[in-house]
Amino acid sequence: MNAIHVSEMRRCRVSTSHRPRFLRFAWLLAFLALGAAPAWTQTDLTGFWVFRVPTGDGNFRETFFELKQDGEAITGKVVFGSREVAITDGSFKNGTLEFVVTYGTAPQARRVVYQGTPQGEKIALTSEAPGRNPIKGTAERTKPEAALPPPRLPLPDLHDVPDNGLARTPPMGWNSWNKFAGKIDDATVRSIADAMVSSGMKQAGYAYVNIDDTWEGPRDAQGNITSNLKFPDMKALADYVHSKGLKIGIYSSPGPKTCAGYEGSYGHEEQDAKTFAAWGIDYLKYDWCSASRIYKNDEMQGVYQKMGDALRKTGRPIVYSLCQYGIGDVWKWGTGVGGNLWRTTGDISDNWKALQTIGFRQLAIASYTKAGHWNDPDMLEIGNGGMTVDEYRTHMSLWALLAAPLLAGNDLRSMSEETKSVLTNSEVIAIDQDLDAKPVERISGGEGTAVVVVRHLHDGSVAVGLFNRADQPQEISVQLEGLGLAGKKLVARDLWRHTDIPLSGNSYQALVASHGVALLRIR
Ligand code: GLA
Repeated sequence: MNAIHVSEMRRCRVSTSHRPRFLRFAWLLAFLALGAAPAWTQTDLTGFWVFRVPTGDGNFRETFFELKQDGEAITGKVVFGSREVAITDGSFKNGTLEFVVTYGTAPQARRVVYQGTPQGEKIALTSEAPGRNPIKGTAERTKPEAALPPPRLPLPDLHDVPDNGLARTPPMGWNSWNKFAGKIDDATVRSIADAMVSSGMKQAGYAYVNIDDTWEGPRDAQGNITSNLKFPDMKALADYVHSKGLKIGIYSSPGPKTCAGYEGSYGHEEQDAKTFAAWGIDYLKYDWCSASRIYKNDEMQGVYQKMGDALRKTGRPIVYSLCQYGIGDVWKWGTGVGGNLWRTTGDISDNWKALQTIGFRQLAIASYTKAGHWNDPDMLEIGNGGMTVDEYRTHMSLWALLAAPLLAGNDLRSMSEETKSVLTNSEVIAIDQDLDAKPVERISGGEGTAVVVVRHLHDGSVAVGLFNRADQPQEISVQLEGLGLAGKKLVARDLWRHTDIPLSGNSYQALVASHGVALLRIR
């Protein structure tokens, strides 16, 4: 029961003198019971709360709760960035508040248990999720408006943003998210840049060192975005990366908040593009995230065009990477908003199921990829430990055949020789970077476990991938007549075994490992 209820009772008492005696007595009993009851029984948690947790880099992560208390039962919802999730299993018993929120959907669902003790108008709260350290903070009462996104800004009329002439072959580099997520900082980026050179990755063609989410700090008094404590000087960091002969990328969102809840570029598109250019940034990944709270999916084009124009206006060559998970067939309009690449899927993760689901689905839209404007099935997981080397070779081969951006997502400072050999296989990279950028075609496989794809290359040769999605090894064959090379004396180069195989007859057959690939270049 909150303060208002108690004061109403006091008013009651003042006005009881003319009431029947038994009513006065009933009131007295209630008052005594209440006085004897522990303080928590008088607490009503109903209302809006904000849970502010320091992120350790100078920012706070804000999660909003709308709690409804009915006796010991707690219901309501949690608002985090663009997500609103219903509370389950909520209770307030013996002074302890507890409720559960499940973020995402199976199999990637994350069940977070919140537990707290109300103290006056605050709740000392802990959130716990499997595999993570408990997070402690304080929830305070707030107004429902605090959880609302800022008002909608009008969108520009649509027009074609001129091609910036960049990324004539699929961008190659590294991105911090898959391995480091929020644990990325200046020192790590510098050491990754060093490793990019010393490991031979730079030599193999990897050029961009891309900082993903969680570099952002608050805006200054003029509205300029700043970097947070993990990145004390972005310009100096960019200079360092450039001094290694590499390029540097950064990340933002068209929404007010990024996916990790950091400051986005909403309403500051031109200003942020200018800041990025002044820092010396060469690549921007622009992630939809909380823009979904302001704009509808069918308005994405205008939203992305805004930043496309802003980047162009800076006069600095900046690769523009759209990240909106493939919504609205982005491959049909990504070029028009100035995009050099666009994510075609949700987030990849380091396991075979995710890899094969994302990877083979790309074949259907391969014809939309072209020089300067690439389908992006997400960053590489090679070397992150969740897959076998056969699976990682499949990852690299499929991405190369798809002409996908090759953005390594592992820790380049400590990768094994095996990982390095997969990432730096120059013959496979040459398929990815082929100047003709002709679309890969599936010639057999459909929904089956043996998938054969081909891609015609600039020098007249043909890349052929024989993929085995089955859980056992299997023989997979390809008919040579269908390759447009018939009648000639054919030699196949096995791009993983690094051997030449003379071909005779009408077909070639290989025993392919489970989840593995035979990748050939036939001349
Ligand atoms: C989204 C993107 C990821 C990564 C994270 C960062 O999930 O799809 O690639 O950028 O946001 O928060």
